[in-house]
Amino acid sequence: MKERLQAMLEVARGAVCEVETEKSLLDIRIQYLGKKGEMTSIMKSMGALQPEERPIVGALANQVKEELEQLIETRLADIRQVEIVRRLTKETLDVTLPGRGRFAGSKHPITLVTEEIVEIFSALGFGVAEGPEVEKDFYNFEALNIPKDHPARDMQDTFYVSDDIVLRTHTSPVQIRTMLKQAPPVRVIAPGTVYRRDSDITHSPMFHQIEGFLVDHKVTFGDLKGILTTFINRFFGKGVGVRFRPSFFPFTEPSAEVDIQCVICGGKGCRVCKNSGWLEILGSGMIDPEVFKSVNYDPEVYSGFAFGMGLERVAMLKYGVNDLRLFFENDIRFLRQF
Ligand code: DAH
Repeated sequence: MKERLQAMLEVARGAVCEVETEKSLLDIRIQYLGKKGEMTSIMKSMGALQPEERPIVGALANQVKEELEQLIETRLADIRQVEIVRRLTKETLDVTLPGRGRFAGSKHPITLVTEEIVEIFSALGFGVAEGPEVEKDFYNFEALNIPKDHPARDMQDTFYVSDDIVLRTHTSPVQIRTMLKQAPPVRVIAPGTVYRRDSDITHSPMFHQIEGFLVDHKVTFGDLKGILTTFINRFFGKGVGVRFRPSFFPFTEPSAEVDIQCVICGGKGCRVCKNSGWLEILGSGMIDPEVFKSVNYDPEVYSGFAFGMGLERVAMLKYGVNDLRLFFENDIRFLRQF
């Protein structure tokens, strides 16, 4: 029995020394010390010994068992230590590598042009006003001298909320709201979202405009030209050609549309300007006396000019964007370019 114990210990010692992994070491532990292990079966067979031999062999068995446990513990600690060293050398971090970086959010191009336009007009003494997107017929049409039978009022063109309420089709109603609240002089610009029943490659049912107007004593068409030319030179760059072309709007008289020299071809003629060399960017005019009457301004005392501009359009021209839909899709690859 004693020899058997000694022999087992020697074999086990050899096996423990040879294993390289934690898993195989634990297998050895089961093999010798487990419930069905060799140590257990030796202990069980002690019943066959002479009674006087039992305490001596029993003591030895305990000693061997303890030694075995100790051996395995020590080896386990060694194996774990080796593993730690291996991982430390293999999994080192190169702290000198550049970071992966994070993208900070960027402003939407429509926000960017709005801010820039507001800044330019602020420097010219204009304040900023806003109005509701769900608007009364009175502000959107009636007070702006857009008569009941005007085509713009057609259900085909305007989103009606009810008979009397619409989604505003332009930012011009802010003129009315402002003038009803405030006596001249006024110099205001009003950026905002507008809606029309229009949806194709070049029209979106929701888009953005900026309105501007100025009312005071003795405001002339010369003031309108001066302010708008100054704005265009600051926004599109000095030296870009500007032209004022007679036009019609119900709320201005006389009216003019303003063109700039094509920013794509420099005026030579291309696909974008349809070979004309010019691009229309805004509508404008001297505020119609009828409009003054609906806000109780005396047209004999005051005069003023107004203008309105599509923000998607100026953003397309300024940044060379060739598809209106890009502004609404919010593809991160597009937005990150600004
Ligand atoms: N409200 C017009 C539109 O949506 C744009 C406009 C034209 C505004 C002339 C004005 C103006 O203030 O004077 O097409």
